[in-house]
Amino acid sequence: MDVVRIFDTTLRDGEQSPGFSMKTEEKIRLARQLAALNVDVIEAGFPIASRGDLEAVQQVSQQIRTVPIAALARAKKQDVDAAIEALKPAAMPRLHVFLATSDLHLQVKLNITREQALEAIGSMIRYGRQHVGEVEFSAEDAGRTDIDFLCQVCRVAVDAGATVLNLPDTVGYAVPEEYGAMFTKVREFLGDPQGITLSAHCHDDLGMAVANSLAAIRAGVRQIECTINGIGERAGNAALEEIVVALAVRKESFNVTTGIRLEELFRTSRMLTEITGAQVAPNKAVVGANAFAHEAGIHQDGIIKNPLTYEIISPQTVGVPARSLVLGKHSGRNALRLTLRDLGYEASDVELSEVYRRVTALADQAKLVRPRDIVAIAHEVIRRRPAPMAAESTSAA
Ligand code: KIV
Ligand code: ZN
Repeated sequence: MDVVRIFDTTLRDGEQSPGFSMKTEEKIRLARQLAALNVDVIEAGFPIASRGDLEAVQQVSQQIRTVPIAALARAKKQDVDAAIEALKPAAMPRLHVFLATSDLHLQVKLNITREQALEAIGSMIRYGRQHVGEVEFSAEDAGRTDIDFLCQVCRVAVDAGATVLNLPDTVGYAVPEEYGAMFTKVREFLGDPQGITLSAHCHDDLGMAVANSLAAIRAGVRQIECTINGIGERAGNAALEEIVVALAVRKESFNVTTGIRLEELFRTSRMLTEITGAQVAPNKAVVGANAFAHEAGIHQDGIIKNPLTYEIISPQTVGVPARSLVLGKHSGRNALRLTLRDLGYEASDVELSEVYRRVTALADQAKLVRPRDIVAIAHEVIRRRPAPMAAESTSAA
């Protein structure tokens, strides 16, 4: 099976969005966890942006020796010099040079011609290669770039020495078929060159970053750029945890693998929320608080009989300690009986009915019934019964 490499840009694209900035020590802590997760590349920052960013890339480079470290630079000498300086201590440095290639960006933002863009791309990659062994080139706004010009850009980048070609959907405008077709065209144009990795980098403005990344994989892309919890510019980047779990759960469909240690996903997600203070939505796939929580009675009953009825991933696979059967107004008696056992109560049928009546009445008033509410009710109803400790794996949230 082919391997898809995971390029994590949480510390760069993720960090450059509002509310997600990190101190150097925090970046180092998260970088260690990304190494434990076994990502293939850590993009640690954009050194020209500030002295702090440059130092953070240096520190991450010094301390994380087992994973290639990337630093971003525009196709400008002062940017490339700053990235080279920041990457000096790295065991496996990667210089990441980018330039926008869509006519809109060339004309409005950069005020340069296509020819000038090709010249800047070629010269800065050649210059970078004199100092850093591995150079990646990104054609910013590739998703809205004229395809013939994009092919030319890729040819120039490869000839200048780039070995990774990243074609971002910078503004999250692409749809999966289109984004995949762009890579197919570029691959055909380049004649499938050996030693060149095509890379996808998707933003989520239309909620399609993960779908677009997966479409790129189907079109032969073997590096995916993504972030933990999908953080990043505007609506964010493709979420790392969603991509790698989709590839694992549907491996017969994609026929590729990654080196990611799935059981580290939840820990990594939690570490990021702890560092930034920004919680993920409860219904977020894979790592959200509700991703393995079941409230509806019919679902709870199915889960108790066989988790495969309503879970396509087991919580343990992604490092979530346990699923939870949440008691609310939609819950059933089976889940209540198990929750009571977890809390140390063995109810008779009559007692269970009474606890159920009171719990559903409470659930009608409150959004959620907490374990301490259930204990209070059970204590009144099942007071005289000894409390054996149950060994069920399910628990109330
Ligand atoms: O979204 C984008 O185009 C980027 C590039 C700089 C890689 O983040
Ligand atoms: Zn981006």
